[in-house]
Amino acid sequence: MAKLSGKTAIITGATSGIGKATALLFADEGAALVLTGRRADLGKAVEAECRQKGVRCVFVEADHTKMEDCQRVVDAAVAEFGRIDILFNNAGIVTSGTADSTPEQVWQDTLNINVTAVWHMCKLVIPVMKRQGKGVIVNNGSDWSVVAGTNAFPYIASKGAVGMMTKAMALDYAREGIRVNAVCPGDTLVERWLEKGYFESSNPVSVEEAMMESSAYLPMGRFGKPEEIASAVLFLASDDSSFVTGHLLLVDGGNTAR
Ligand SMILES: NC(=O)c1ccc[n+]([C@@H]2O[C@H](COP(=O)([O-])OP(=O)(O)OC[C@H]3O[C@@H](n4cnc5c(N)ncnc54)[C@H](OP(=O)(O)O)[C@@H]3O)[C@@H](O)[C@H]2O)c1
Repeated sequence: MAKLSGKTAIITGATSGIGKATALLFADEGAALVLTGRRADLGKAVEAECRQKGVRCVFVEADHTKMEDCQRVVDAAVAEFGRIDILFNNAGIVTSGTADSTPEQVWQDTLNINVTAVWHMCKLVIPVMKRQGKGVIVNNGSDWSVVAGTNAFPYIASKGAVGMMTKAMALDYAREGIRVNAVCPGDTLVERWLEKGYFESSNPVSVEEAMMESSAYLPMGRFGKPEEIASAVLFLASDDSSFVTGHLLLVDGGNTAR
């Protein structure tokens, strides 16, 4: 039995990485999907892949830092499917820097998508879920929602906020049938890392060797895969986690266990 049949899910930032992997898994599990992102060519390709799995799926080009774009996404979901059972607030960017080295614009850009956009979508979707008397929100946090690291000050600030926003909303809406949780991935190898050439300036000759060397510090000796994060999102989004709310689910290969 598919875990999400009859349900409608919005996945923000589904054009690549964890969002794309989650879209494909949710399609396998029978969900009708609204997918978003700014790169329409990639979004349309994911839409087509999901439809090939036999589910209804629409891609809506949107920049979630803009409230009006978020409104279009929610309107499209309601117009197309009549309900919103699941919201996966996944869209986000990674930024680096320390408190004194971070430029104002980097700080604003990071907070705008990683924090404000989560609020935008929740503000618009929660009234729909309240009317339904049911709904699930999964926010994409990070292992840096619960521990800090170096030289990632704006990103850590943003993901720390996502963790507490998750808990606050879980408490505010627990009696209204709305569960709110966060998946907190550790380092997960996504296409963007390869596009940015993260491993190309390292000493080892191949990208594969460089990746192995870079991930050696992790307890399992490897990065996570987007599909492994998607599985955790499915758990939080499905009725399998019906008594779980306000939880930050670390999916980090043990990184924060030490
Ligand atoms: N990979 C990791 O190691 C890791 C670890 C912890 C947490 N995370 C979190 O996982 C989430 C997904 O990241 P990823 O690793 O899968 O990287 P990714 O492939 O770069 O995915 C980021 C997604 O967010 C979308 N996005 C970014 N800014 C947006 C905006 N203003 N409006 C709409 N969509 C926007 C991107 O779409 P467009 O570019 O098409 O707009 C893309 O689909 C992020 O929240 C990230 O912080 C990742």
